[in-house]
Amino acid sequence: MNTKLSVNVNKIALLRNSRGGNVPNVVQFAKDCERFGADGITVHPRLDERHITRDDVYALKEVVTTEFNIEGYPSEDFIQMVLDVKPTQCTLVPDAPDQLTSDHGWDTLKHEAFLRDVIRELQKSGIRVSLFIDPVRALLEGAIKTETDRIEFYTGPYAHDYSLNREEAVKSFALAAQWCDELQLGVNAGHDLSLQNLRYFREQLPNLMEVSIGHALVNDCLYLGLQNVVSMYKRELGTL
Ligand code: PXP
Repeated sequence: MNTKLSVNVNKIALLRNSRGGNVPNVVQFAKDCERFGADGITVHPRLDERHITRDDVYALKEVVTTEFNIEGYPSEDFIQMVLDVKPTQCTLVPDAPDQLTSDHGWDTLKHEAFLRDVIRELQKSGIRVSLFIDPVRALLEGAIKTETDRIEFYTGPYAHDYSLNREEAVKSFALAAQWCDELQLGVNAGHDLSLQNLRYFREQLPNLMEVSIGHALVNDCLYLGLQNVVSMYKRELGTL
């Protein structure tokens, strides 16, 4: 299976917001990601709009020609926006409003009825739904009952343990991905995936449909562009 790359553009919005104005331009960045081969664009608007704003979500909807994925906690406001924008996919995340970044998946057993109602409403509008989840059999069985189309594995622990022992780090995810195959659940993954740990993860999960990557990818853009850009500035100063 070919695994799709969805680029999470939150960090670009964060950089823009730190200065006011529109540099870097989130919409242009997303368009260029697509031009360079990305298979999708992901945003995770948060209540305080500290990175992606509601206006960004609507602006991106107009330009994204690949798969548009909106992540977030299913508050009433969030659901209304998603129904309005109609992205390809909505990934539901159990984040508290003030959370720095997502650090766990849903308790699908405890929230089964709530999730099933939300998922049904989104699916009625033709939106594919994915549930952010930890690789635990009981949670996957709970996910099936919510009638979600896919799950997204929270890969933070994998990334954290990768350099210690990658076979151990990937074990629970590979096994859970096999269960997903049996249960006919589509498999996405995200969080802290990087150039260092991505290939091995993909090799161990043959049914991995999509990864969404933001932090490491943007960091790589900075580092891999650094030499070129310092030279360009030196040239402008006539000192190269
Ligand atoms: N998936 C979810 C649910 C997330 O909240 C995030 C971070 O916004 C990601 C994937 C991407 O993680 P990272 O920025 O570490 O690549």
